[in-house]
Amino acid sequence: MDKFRRELESFVREVYESERKVLVFGEGPLHARVMLVGEAPGEREALEGRPFVGRAGKNLDAFLQGAGLKRDELYVTNAVKFRPVRISQAGRTVNRPPTQEEVRIFAPWLLREIALVAPECVVTLGNVPLRAVTGERLSIGDIHGGFLSAGGRTLYPMYHPASMLYNPSLRNVYAADLARLALWLAEQKI
Ligand code: URA
Repeated sequence: MDKFRRELESFVREVYESERKVLVFGEGPLHARVMLVGEAPGEREALEGRPFVGRAGKNLDAFLQGAGLKRDELYVTNAVKFRPVRISQAGRTVNRPPTQEEVRIFAPWLLREIALVAPECVVTLGNVPLRAVTGERLSIGDIHGGFLSAGGRTLYPMYHPASMLYNPSLRNVYAADLARLALWLAEQKI
């Protein structure tokens, strides 16, 4: 994993030359059973250098706990490894979704990271990582909470935890999807 990170860092330095991108790498046990893949770091994540430590992350942690899943047993990463930003009308630096180009640039690195961790299940959080991992224009609303096979791996698409902040009616859906994942994990052990 150290080699992977060094290579990714020098790749980003080359591609983004003068931009001095701050990278937020994945974290968690190298051979975790589950790998969670988000979209891209936000402000808090870029400041702390850790994925999912901001508002969406707190939301995620609470739901994981509710399903009996321990975050420190999971490997957590993002499809894009730097914080995508834009300047707002008020002149502030704010988050923006990653562009397709940014997702495309990082996709081979994400696939390599998945191969290194080799989890039993890759859980994509939202459309961006779902499309990055499958290379297809799938929609999370159609396929969340079901197991798929992609590139020889088991994939479990879920909504992004920030989606519940905008749409609280997704909270029950989220809890049910996580409970199904926890059950599946328990069954794999039998
Ligand atoms: N949203 C993401 O997709 N990833 C993070 O790390 C934080 C927020």
